[in-house]
Amino acid sequence: MEQTIYNQVVQANIELHSKLSEHYNTCEPHFRPENIAKVEANLKKVIDDTQATKMLDLGCGTGFMINIGKKYVKEIWGVDVTKAMTDRIDKSGDCEIVILNEDTAQAALPVNYFDVATAYSFLHHLYDIKPTLHNAYNSLKEGGKFYADLDPNYYFWEGVNKLDRNSSYDFIVKREIEAVTYKDEDIEKTFGVSKDIFNNAEFGKNIKGGFKEEDLISMLKAEGFKEVSLFYHWYIGQGALINDTQYSVEDRFKYADVMHQMLQKALPLSKNLFKYIGFVATK
Ligand SMILES: C[S@@+](CC[C@H](N)C(=O)[O-])C[C@H]1O[C@@H](n2cnc3c(N)ncnc32)[C@H](O)[C@@H]1O
Repeated sequence: MEQTIYNQVVQANIELHSKLSEHYNTCEPHFRPENIAKVEANLKKVIDDTQATKMLDLGCGTGFMINIGKKYVKEIWGVDVTKAMTDRIDKSGDCEIVILNEDTAQAALPVNYFDVATAYSFLHHLYDIKPTLHNAYNSLKEGGKFYADLDPNYYFWEGVNKLDRNSSYDFIVKREIEAVTYKDEDIEKTFGVSKDIFNNAEFGKNIKGGFKEEDLISMLKAEGFKEVSLFYHWYIGQGALINDTQYSVEDRFKYADVMHQMLQKALPLSKNLFKYIGFVATK
């Protein structure tokens, strides 16, 4: 039974991402320059801290992390089950890029080889993240770092899922209800992918409801990671503030940043206001 669901989740991912692949880089908001700049700063830090030359990107898709990483390292391996996604990876430049079209839980990776492993907007696509964490851990050198980001924060998703679509909330709340609870309707309409396929493909988000900080820490420690540093980002209303035309562009980003700093100070009380969770784990 477990194995059947496991296989269904992998197959749902292949079906969904084969359909999305053509539009993926233009539809997904994480490809916006301001987000790329933030992710680049995070990745550069782990690359600098480990003096990395070899990077592994799990669930690499069309190469979002590979494009950033290839400026800084000599060799990148990308692993992804959907060939239609990896066919779009730009392999130009001096960095050697190796692509494996395999399940990250089972991919045959070299042991003690990589300085840095990454997983961006990926772990919530798995039925169970443990075998993939195990593979990432084994493939890293001692002292190597695993940077994962843009996974759903359970506490935010839980709060939004309890809200009623028909109540009169502010636009920023209504928008989250649609994006979190009814995204499957939108995907069905736009890409012709059934709700079941979409929900299985995002099993860790749509079925399990996102990741809890405490579960991530205990799973990573159980694999052997010595240090785990977690962070929350992208609070509710941040997008609306950044796009609010009553302020100059410069002010919008400044206010958004001030708000971010305040909510960070208010952690853990503010943790259910952040949509995403990420971590850096050190072997
Ligand atoms: C949301 S996309 C993220 C792609 C890329 N990391 C990015 O940020 O643009 C998720 C990717 O995970 C891949 N995927 C899903 N399950 C997988 C698995 N078990 N093993 C390898 N790749 C998988 C999908 O094919 C898809 O390309």
